[in-house]
Amino acid sequence: MDSLIIDGGVRLRGSVKINGSKNAALPIMAASLLADGPSVLREVPNLSDIHHLVALLKELGAQIEHQADGSLRVEIVDSANSHARYDLVRKMRAGICVLGPLLAKRRYARVSMPGGCAIGDRPVDLHVRGLRALGADIQLDGGDIVARADKLVGAEIFLGGNFGSTVLGTANIMCAATLARGTTVIECAACEPEVSDLAHYLNAMGAKITGQGTPRVVIEGVEGLTGCPYTVAPDRIEAGTFMVAAAITNGEVHLENVRLDHLMAATDKLRSIGVLVEKANGGCTVASARRLEATVITTQPHPGFPTDLQAQFMALLTIADGNSVITEKIFPDRFLHVAELSRLGAHLHKEGATVIIEGQKRLEGAPVMASDLRASAALVLAGLVGRGTTTVNRVYHIDRGYERIEERLNALGAKIKRINQQELEG
Ligand code: EPU
Repeated sequence: MDSLIIDGGVRLRGSVKINGSKNAALPIMAASLLADGPSVLREVPNLSDIHHLVALLKELGAQIEHQADGSLRVEIVDSANSHARYDLVRKMRAGICVLGPLLAKRRYARVSMPGGCAIGDRPVDLHVRGLRALGADIQLDGGDIVARADKLVGAEIFLGGNFGSTVLGTANIMCAATLARGTTVIECAACEPEVSDLAHYLNAMGAKITGQGTPRVVIEGVEGLTGCPYTVAPDRIEAGTFMVAAAITNGEVHLENVRLDHLMAATDKLRSIGVLVEKANGGCTVASARRLEATVITTQPHPGFPTDLQAQFMALLTIADGNSVITEKIFPDRFLHVAELSRLGAHLHKEGATVIIEGQKRLEGAPVMASDLRASAALVLAGLVGRGTTTVNRVYHIDRGYERIEERLNALGAKIKRINQQELEG
């Protein structure tokens, strides 16, 4: 197991290219199960979650080749096995996004229930409700969701839950509805850019989807879909993480391959606390020259402030001037980073799904434990400013969502070394 050893205190400077979006690439790869013929997917990031989905899709009959230019060629060559096993789905919850495509294309799917994870329970009731509305028979058998449908028929589906819509649920229903007979209307659909990216890919394959990016998505069923070339959108969460890296170190960083229109809430927050964010050369420049102001953040479905940047902004606000408040409205238990940031000297007071952050002048380096993907990113960010050395243990979490994070931060001037646990102990 690897650890990152970070010597804090360097102002980051330079330019970094943002990769394709993990959370767009995963459902897009799964949607390739719907296609006849090959798709060539560009800008798929090289991450462990992607590797796990590649392994799962191969089991489900996909032939997947990494091309010389970094793109992924995906073609379904065998439809005999439609069982997404627990061993593969438990490693990567996004495995659930094969459910809709398998059911629509093969009329049968057996997908292991993903179960909870470090950020909470993560139920799939809305996915099931939506697929049932399209006419699927769905049972639970031995921990697997077993879905069958002789035919799927378009329907009106409401996807709102207690915490808003569901991103992967919308993806599943949208995929299944592309091959259903007639028209499907999803009300309270997730508006996240990753859902729109999936809709664009499905449309490029011949689907008829309108309204993506709004809460009302309309899908006219078609007879079939044909694989095609597609470029995955830039990762807004990776971009937001590098923006915080620039801000927290009082640095100046140019981000290439960024869609600022996908990052309105985060950009607005950064500007309001004193960070300069400017559009520049197909990307943006993020700079900060002074101590930042405190603020109030509430996570919300898109276009509100994203839960996937909550931990990173908490790290940033630990050294702001004054008291900040962060409330988590998507995953109310997503606060594993609170105890670890406190080890670095942050003053945090948690009450239910709200954390009050008493800004400090500085953080102090310490050993900390990564717990989930975004919490780990927050610890690395805090380590960049912590005085002395911060050791972030169990960084496999961060490798799920950030490609070669230490190399890319080091290219901006950071001092981070990756070592494996044995080296650390020896
Ligand atoms: N929910 C239900 N019932 C459902 C599905 C979801 O109640 O059937 C609840 C969840 O418990 C949560 C809320 O609805 O409270 C939103 O969950 P959602 O289904 O939207 O999450 P997801 O689709 O499983 C994706 C991302 C997450 C991101 C969330 C929210 C992928 C692979 N994952 O998860 O990304 O936090 O949307 O934006 O796209 C990450 O990248 O670190 C990450 C966790």
